[in-house]
Amino acid sequence: MIYDHIAGRLSLLDRQIVDVVPPGGNWRDLPQDFPSKRIEQIRRTAADGQGSRSTYYGRLRWDRPSYTISTYFSRPGNGCYIHPWASRLITVREAARLQAFPDRYRFFGRGRDRFVQVGNAVPPLLAYQLARALEPGPLVDLFSGAGGLSLGFELAGFELKAAVDHDKAANETFRRNRDKDLTLGLNLADAAQLDNAIHEIRLRAGDDGVYLLAGGPPCQGFSTAGPCRADDHRNRLVFAFLAAVGRLSPEIVLIENVAALMWRGRPILREMLRMLSNDGYESSVALIHAEGYGVPQLRRRLFVLASRAHALRWARPWRRIIEPSYLDHQPAGACDENRLPVFTVRDAISDLPLDEAPSPEDAVAYADEPTSELQRWARGELSAADFVTVRLSQSQSGLFAASESR
Ligand SMILES: C[S@@+](CC[C@H](N)C(=O)[O-])C[C@H]1O[C@@H](n2cnc3c(N)ncnc32)[C@H](O)[C@@H]1O
Repeated sequence: MIYDHIAGRLSLLDRQIVDVVPPGGNWRDLPQDFPSKRIEQIRRTAADGQGSRSTYYGRLRWDRPSYTISTYFSRPGNGCYIHPWASRLITVREAARLQAFPDRYRFFGRGRDRFVQVGNAVPPLLAYQLARALEPGPLVDLFSGAGGLSLGFELAGFELKAAVDHDKAANETFRRNRDKDLTLGLNLADAAQLDNAIHEIRLRAGDDGVYLLAGGPPCQGFSTAGPCRADDHRNRLVFAFLAAVGRLSPEIVLIENVAALMWRGRPILREMLRMLSNDGYESSVALIHAEGYGVPQLRRRLFVLASRAHALRWARPWRRIIEPSYLDHQPAGACDENRLPVFTVRDAISDLPLDEAPSPEDAVAYADEPTSELQRWARGELSAADFVTVRLSQSQSGLFAASESR
């Protein structure tokens, strides 16, 4: 049985769009005179050369990985979120499948909460593989959200000590998927609440101190036009995270963030690495493509791994990814798609019912038997370890040293 099988509601106009766009298509498939201000605006900005907007009002294809699942998959106009067949958007459960969450993991909250939690998460199967490259130990997760990152590390044998997030619904999701309540509902942008968090984490870590401090602090100071500065107040959460590193002195640090830190956000990344170095950490930066780790989604994220004493090792992807990450944008002949062991939308969701559930709390039955390892993993029939072992046996893989990742 599955839960959370509900999609965002469509307006009448959006419904008309959804009915026209074919699998793999987008807003360009609509007639020129389609009566929508939003479509007009997209046409104008695309014509002005401000990006192709090629995922907007997009319908997924069965035979490809999905595009990035953002927090906006409750609407058709900001990405490629229309179900490959049904006249609706993908549901929270389908998005969770594309984010490689197991079906037993449920999401809680109201309105857009569930959508935001799923879109924000680190795919647990990816986190699991990153975790396997490290020695397991106690873990603290800051900006923990729904707990995708934590789940992957827990599956790899890490013991969660604390998860800090200011969002009530995300904390509820985190808590209700675990036996113990390890969440701390604190605003890490507030100095006094950060102090509280540090105090509580120290108590929970005990004499051994914090082993791994991990987290995905939001970083928006470079997402708009204009000069990108490390002291922009919108980047304060990254520096709150680094302040926690300075005060807790974890053995290992893992930071997840948007890929744009590599480019537009470079000044912030440089400052982060400088601060870690001042605290005595050696760092390694990797741009990780989730689809290279068995996640059925084109999702690129930047990870920073830092330690004073431990070897910095990354899990090797199952296939080499060639920039840019979108298959459609790859130079002809750069890769033979037929041979790529990437998982597709079909592998991820073809066993789920086309009809939505009346509410997220209503359990609905699977529509079909599982037809892929990914579906068997999601249903709890294959452990994360077995899933990875099966796939790794089919590709040349393993661990690689940090120096190779640059
Ligand atoms: C990218 S999400 C983290 C996702 C998480 N790592 C996962 O894998 O599910 C960032 C989180 O930071 C939280 N957050 C944003 N501002 C915060 C603040 N000032 N204090 C604490 N948490 C905050 C948000 O609520 C959100 O859950």
